[in-house]
Amino acid sequence: MATKLEKVLLIGSTGTIGYHILHAFLPKVASFKRVAIFTSQNTVGTKKELVDKVKASGVEVIVGDLGNEAQVKETFSGFDTIVSALGRGALHLQSNLISIAASLTPPKRFFPSEYGTDIRYSPVTSPSEIPHQNKLKVRAHIEALAREGKITYTYVVTGPFADTFFISRMPRIGLNMGNGTYGIVGPEDAEKQEKISGTTYSDTARYVLSAVQAPPETTKNATLRVSSFTAKPAELLKGFESVLGKKLNTIYTPLDELRKLEKEKWAEKDPYATVYTLNRIWYEGGSDFSRKPVALYLDEKTGEDVEDEERSKHLFEDVPKRSLEEVIKEIVM
Ligand SMILES: NC(=O)c1ccc[n+]([C@@H]2O[C@H](COP(=O)([O-])OP(=O)(O)OC[C@H]3O[C@@H](n4cnc5c(N)ncnc54)[C@H](OP(=O)(O)O)[C@@H]3O)[C@@H](O)[C@H]2O)c1
Repeated sequence: MATKLEKVLLIGSTGTIGYHILHAFLPKVASFKRVAIFTSQNTVGTKKELVDKVKASGVEVIVGDLGNEAQVKETFSGFDTIVSALGRGALHLQSNLISIAASLTPPKRFFPSEYGTDIRYSPVTSPSEIPHQNKLKVRAHIEALAREGKITYTYVVTGPFADTFFISRMPRIGLNMGNGTYGIVGPEDAEKQEKISGTTYSDTARYVLSAVQAPPETTKNATLRVSSFTAKPAELLKGFESVLGKKLNTIYTPLDELRKLEKEKWAEKDPYATVYTLNRIWYEGGSDFSRKPVALYLDEKTGEDVEDEERSKHLFEDVPKRSLEEVIKEIVM
């Protein structure tokens, strides 16, 4: 019988998505033997209210430096599961953390910071997307160690965060509340539009909690694709109009135009070039999770990722499924 995992360490848990993951754990602390966050001295000073709330909920707060190997090793040795939600600027630090975790026995379970684009989707098309390249390096490292049985991994892949990427960060994409517009990437003919999956912060957190609590064999060396919805841009537009109770003016940007803009932005070293790359990947079908299995498992002999319907069939039964309108309400209100 598989061992029950009961001691969970969260790192990067004070950041954008980490905050939500942490808040999903707070009401569940009593069902674990130990839940802790590892955070920096700086965060303890700047996010005092959060840290106090976390402590009051029974979560331990371990203050330290992720660069201090001896401290990280000692900390990791007290947990069976490590969930990382480190930010884009800290993804590269994870390989060392994974090596430390892999030096400990029994093998730890490690959730690298993913929560985004399915980076196995044509990584060659985003060579300038440093976080993607860093995530690919982290994956190669942890998978090599997993094949040796020194660690196990779980990737939670969410596609774009619905809370941010459908509320326009660029004038041409998603809802622009001020202008009363909705930007669609793709053709005007809805039939020809690609579907896109997205996940809210709150659902991402629910899925991570659910994966941590699931029988370990069902999430062992797995890529888990989760989403709050999968819809065509035209359906999203309709959903926003229905929730807002008004018609929105639609702006269409054909994919080729977005690709051209993406190239220009990278050439100009525009700090938002990344956003163009991400949107291009998503709207060309790269985050249509309805076309892919919810879970893929590493076959330790061949190194291939394989589907296993039997093993994945009970995953996420505890995460409530919501209608597109309910999801849009959550992100708009
Ligand atoms: N799907 C999407 O649309 C989407 C959007 C944004 C991000 N993401 C992904 O979500 C994951 C987490 O990103 P995030 O935006 O939530 O992270 P974030 O807010 O930038 O940072 C998360 C936390 O990481 C810790 N950290 C430690 N050293 C750091 C360093 N050198 N640089 C940055 N952070 C450091 C900090 O917490 P402590 O001080 O507590 O250690 C920080 O609060 C990433 O994998 C990212 O690619 C996905």
